[in-house]
Amino acid sequence: MKDTSQIIVGKAKLEVADKTAEFPILQGTDGKMGIDIANLRAQTGVIAFDNGFNNTTSTLSGISFIDGENGILRYRGYAIEDLFNYASFREVAYLMVSGKLPTLREVKQFSVYLTEHSMIDEDMHHFFAGFPRTAHPMAILAAMVTSLSSFYPEITHDDSNFDEIAARLISKVRTIAAYSYKKSRGYPVVYPQAKLSYVENFLNMMFDTPNSPYDIKSEEHQIHAKILDKILILHADHGQNCSTTAVKLVGSARANLYAAVSAGICALWGPLHGGANQAVIEMLENIKKDGANVNKYIEDAKTKNFRLMGFGHALYKSYDPRAALAKELLDELTQKCKINEPLFEIAQDLERRVLADDYFIERKLYPNIDFYTGIIYKALGIPTNMLTVMFVLGRLPGWIAQWRELMGNGIKIFRPRQIYTGPGAIEYVQLEDR
Ligand code: ACO
Repeated sequence: MKDTSQIIVGKAKLEVADKTAEFPILQGTDGKMGIDIANLRAQTGVIAFDNGFNNTTSTLSGISFIDGENGILRYRGYAIEDLFNYASFREVAYLMVSGKLPTLREVKQFSVYLTEHSMIDEDMHHFFAGFPRTAHPMAILAAMVTSLSSFYPEITHDDSNFDEIAARLISKVRTIAAYSYKKSRGYPVVYPQAKLSYVENFLNMMFDTPNSPYDIKSEEHQIHAKILDKILILHADHGQNCSTTAVKLVGSARANLYAAVSAGICALWGPLHGGANQAVIEMLENIKKDGANVNKYIEDAKTKNFRLMGFGHALYKSYDPRAALAKELLDELTQKCKINEPLFEIAQDLERRVLADDYFIERKLYPNIDFYTGIIYKALGIPTNMLTVMFVLGRLPGWIAQWRELMGNGIKIFRPRQIYTGPGAIEYVQLEDR
């Protein structure tokens, strides 16, 4: 663990039964404070209980800054709005993994790495053949990313060429993502092309087919590529969320980067986390089937038997700044491209009613990023079961950066304790006597 002595600003006292213990108070650069309770058990004999770890951290991190109350998000100090408006996804990916914005020469070199490492070993193609047609692309992706460790085993966090290591993983995961879609359709895979950019390649690998060539250079598809590049920026990192914590938990056992990223993919799959963008589209489709009765779903959500997918956020209690930027992208897409998607009207109706409804206003439940990105992906022609895969592509630089930071900090293995609520000691009964 990084030395915390530099950030101690005071002491907290805790009385437990007849014992009084003192713990250092640590302060981050944002002024927020935390109590270091690493010695709580040693000093008092008790442990801390924090359901969902919502008040707990074991991390000192300098990657993303989130102020949920005021709707602020920064990566490595840069406002998400500036990165969204002025940077490309590859610049942001470089920023995340290396800690600084690239120079022109560095970003060109990073692009070369992305291109050079875009292919996957031909032997890995056999693995795709082993999955059933119905396999969820997230299942394929998680398995294939773990498999990468057997083909490209050499990874260390302090490698002087970590940019290349990161670019290799980012590029290959993109290729695997497109291949997993082709597999689910039973179509032949399309190889990456050196002349295309990272995002152009992805769209081309997704949509080009032998009988219907995809013109990535067309005006419409260039708009799609630009929009996708921006969405990926919005997803690049987000503090110690569930999937990032999964990456770090596995990484803390010194498992390799691929295994750690694969754990992140599995965590992101959940509908309360990255799976929400898929859940948004499924919910909108259900509303449509139900005669577009938006009100019924809003009222159902109030009974708590059902949650409106794409609304609310564990941290943002004003507005998710990424959602505001994603909404700009949706507006741009609808203005510039012909969108023939009936779910849009339902989504707009739902958004309007929720924002005017006291139940949601009182609970500070606003549309989150997944609400808009789900709809945008649908408009780009990306199938519903690929939506969480898209989130993986965006979040990958953040996971890699967080893994690297963790390794550099010499972290202890994550090993939470428990408050045991099971039975006391029970005498064992032989099988024949039960
Ligand atoms: N629809 C209806 N009611 C909701 C919703 C929702 N989407 N979200 C929260 N609420 C209600 C709860 O029932 C609760 O009501 P109560 O105070 O009367 O009991 C109140 O709002 C607070 O709910 P919590 O569960 O405490 O809120 P929390 O901040 O822990 O949850 C979460 C955040 C998990 C994102 C939640 O809002 C949710 O389930 N949203 C839908 C799923 C979703 O869109 N997830 C994507 C998150 S963004 C991301 O991962 C990138």
